[in-house]
Amino acid sequence: MNRCAKTEVPAELLKEQERYTQLAKAKVAEIYYGRTPKYHVHSYGCQLNVSDGEKLKGQLEAMGYVETGAVEDADFVIYNTCAVRENAEDRAFGNLGALKNQKRRRPSMLIAICGCMTQQQHNADRIKKSFPFVDIVFGTHAMYRLPEMVCSRLMGRGRVFETEENNCDIVEGMPVHRDSGFKAWLPIMYGCDNFCSYCIVPYVRGRERSRRPEEVVKEARQIVEGGYKEIMLLGQNVNSYGVGLEENINFSELLRRIDAIEGDYRIRFMTSHPKDCTRELIDTIAESKHVCHHIHLPVQCGSNRILKLMNRRYTVEKYIELIDYAREKIPDVTFTSDIIVGFPGETYEDFCLTLELLKRVRFNALYTFIYSKREGTVAAKMEDPIPYEDKSRWFRELLAVQEEIAESYYRNMVGKRVRVLPEELGKTEGTITGRDDGNNIVNIKAPESLIGSFVEVDIDTAFNWAVGGTVAE
Ligand code: 5AD
Ligand code: SF4
Repeated sequence: MNRCAKTEVPAELLKEQERYTQLAKAKVAEIYYGRTPKYHVHSYGCQLNVSDGEKLKGQLEAMGYVETGAVEDADFVIYNTCAVRENAEDRAFGNLGALKNQKRRRPSMLIAICGCMTQQQHNADRIKKSFPFVDIVFGTHAMYRLPEMVCSRLMGRGRVFETEENNCDIVEGMPVHRDSGFKAWLPIMYGCDNFCSYCIVPYVRGRERSRRPEEVVKEARQIVEGGYKEIMLLGQNVNSYGVGLEENINFSELLRRIDAIEGDYRIRFMTSHPKDCTRELIDTIAESKHVCHHIHLPVQCGSNRILKLMNRRYTVEKYIELIDYAREKIPDVTFTSDIIVGFPGETYEDFCLTLELLKRVRFNALYTFIYSKREGTVAAKMEDPIPYEDKSRWFRELLAVQEEIAESYYRNMVGKRVRVLPEELGKTEGTITGRDDGNNIVNIKAPESLIGSFVEVDIDTAFNWAVGGTVAE
């Protein structure tokens, strides 16, 4: 595998971008004389993309823009796209098309599209040809050069395309605008080398590369000192953290170093690949002070034959062994998972093995997907004879099984006391909602003022997707 030898973008190149930021800022002030221009950044897909989106926002703010939630008010719109499934791509193209009239009414506005989708040649070509009103198109690796691209466009040069493949870089020290005041994303690594046969990520995000532990721990400390209550460590496969670094370090050791930071906060992480999830990691979680007792461990399916075709490199038996070990070491541990229904060649019998696995493991929540063909992946070339309607029917069957499991899990929570970090207003008046340390959604009858700080909650109600309760006396 061709690993990246030197991965960090040199400080001089970042300094150069700071100069472009100042140039862009002066130009923006001239164009929008007398008012502050607004930006709207929308990130599709996974948390890593949302985290990238916060860096785009940080850069735009340094150039003098302020955020607006309303795309129709924006002078600069960036769609940060996802390529994992076709429907995310369709939504991005749909939303982009809808900007055409806005640009006609307001020619000075800027429109940019970036992220995983633009990293695929056919999408970059389609944007070039069919969306001529898009000013800037850039891939995941070019994100740190946004100021330079904005300058170029504002100075009246042509449309900017920066989508070539050079995705080995790590950029430290970019400005970041965190969306939340109490939850912080912390990417620890980028890219993926696993090449699961259905997945486009290794092609659009490039080779796996880890941030140096000093940088990660420094940022974690800043987050805790900034009063944040939750750190979410991010990577496509956090369990292979450290491969290729000068220092000999693995994910368990990184967790221990972060956990050693004093403070009132909790640590989450995602995503764990079962093939690299070790007993050491489970022991580390058990012994830690701040790490949540929740593991998101995508199994994808319950048939060994399909797991092999997926190139997942573990078996159902190995997966269950891990779950059992974790439950022995951490009695209150919870699991969530990702499931793909309708992988090429999957039969109803294979699918039934997935249902069996769900009943055996009893995940407290699932992220479920119908297989989506991604051009360029190995699975895209496989025979896929099952009609979509059948896959949809299996999918509904899966949801019904999971709903029953989750419901009974939530009924068992009634009467228990859990710690929750409320995140937002609930759907009904007088309620707020957040997640407990096991990642369960908890609705609380409590005032808005409690959002953003830990509360102990007595659970008194079970729904089929969450629980409800009141603040403990
Ligand atoms: N089709 C459907 N689901 C997919 N995922 C990744 N690629 C595909 C695809 N081609 C799902 C996997 C992964 C999650 C992030 O997205 O379940 O774990
Ligand atoms: Fe895709 Fe597999 Fe990498 Fe996850 S581990 S990003 S599913 S290739």
